[in-house]
Amino acid sequence: FLHKIVLGIETSCDDTAAAVVDETGNVLGEAIHSQTEVHLKTGGIIPPVAQQLHRENIQRIVQEALCASGISPSELSAIATTIKPGLALSLGVGLSFSLQLVDQLKKPFIPIHHMEAHALTIRLTNKVEFPFLVLLISGGHCLLALVRGVSDFLLLGKSLDIAPGDMLDKVARRLSLIKHPECSTMSGGKAIEHLAKQGNRFHFDINSPMQRAKNCDFSFSGLQHVIDKIIMQKEKEEGIEKGQILSSAADIAAAVQHTTACHIAKRTHRAILFCKQRDLLSQSNAVLVVSGGVASNLYIRRALEIVTNATQCTLLCPPPRLCTDNGIMIAWNGIERLRAGLGILDNIEGIRYEPK
Ligand code: KG4
Ligand code: ZN
Repeated sequence: FLHKIVLGIETSCDDTAAAVVDETGNVLGEAIHSQTEVHLKTGGIIPPVAQQLHRENIQRIVQEALCASGISPSELSAIATTIKPGLALSLGVGLSFSLQLVDQLKKPFIPIHHMEAHALTIRLTNKVEFPFLVLLISGGHCLLALVRGVSDFLLLGKSLDIAPGDMLDKVARRLSLIKHPECSTMSGGKAIEHLAKQGNRFHFDINSPMQRAKNCDFSFSGLQHVIDKIIMQKEKEEGIEKGQILSSAADIAAAVQHTTACHIAKRTHRAILFCKQRDLLSQSNAVLVVSGGVASNLYIRRALEIVTNATQCTLLCPPPRLCTDNGIMIAWNGIERLRAGLGILDNIEGIRYEPK
């Protein structure tokens, strides 16, 4: 009885991750190295720094995942690796390493689209049939798509500028939350969520972006500029220097979190109605999957719950460790592709890695 087992490797952004997953969704081994702390210090990801850190860690992380799985590399059915989208320099490290391994172990290679992997993760933990709606919201992603099959996606909306996590990170940086005693080790989005609990969102009246746009796209850079102006104004009023923490920081955090939640919920509502009107989703038991780092925000989740309750949909989120970048989702995407008979490349000579 031959059981499919896939090694997944992910290096698209700032996590070096690997995992071994079998056909039934058992995670046999996993390892991850996060670069968040380094990037927090430099105030954002510097691609050559990320590349160097991936280089320093990839061998060890893949070894750790394989060792933890207790299988011998010869038992692998295939090696799956993220090839796009992401930071070119980061992707290159994972791809080069994987292609070497593929060559050495004589295993089939499965190229993985990072967004497809995020979208399919829910099928590892829950029994979810196609089609379902997925909302991916993180530091680098913002999209709404109808998932009709393993590699059959209908893109309904995307951010026209930056992703919500990126915007929250920028606002947090502008508010110097890294210097806040309660938030110094948190990501920008988490710091905003934490501080917002102590603030009053009604102190600022901010419009939700794109209210008249008849589509499911998103925009966050306008909101960022509005917040920037408010911060500048408050700095003047409170007579403090750039870099010090405003006494109104919690109110600003609450306002930006609320506006972000409203915008995301409204666009998602449109997407659900669009799909239901065209019978693209079940009328009675449609599923909305929400994933990405921003999906861990409970205020945003509650806003989405209001939408799914009003439209008779079920809201599902993968557990937090599977919402953010990880190797498990890549390995699982490999399993899904193997089962669907898709995208197995025995001959890797045709693959070239071309950074853009
Ligand atoms: O999925 P992820 O780990 O990485 C990618 O961007 O792909 O997401 C990280 C993003 C960061 O922008 C971070 O600020 C945001 O997710 N984030 C949050 C929360 N936790 C992390 N945003 C809002 N609320 C949170 N609790
Ligand atoms: Zn991601």
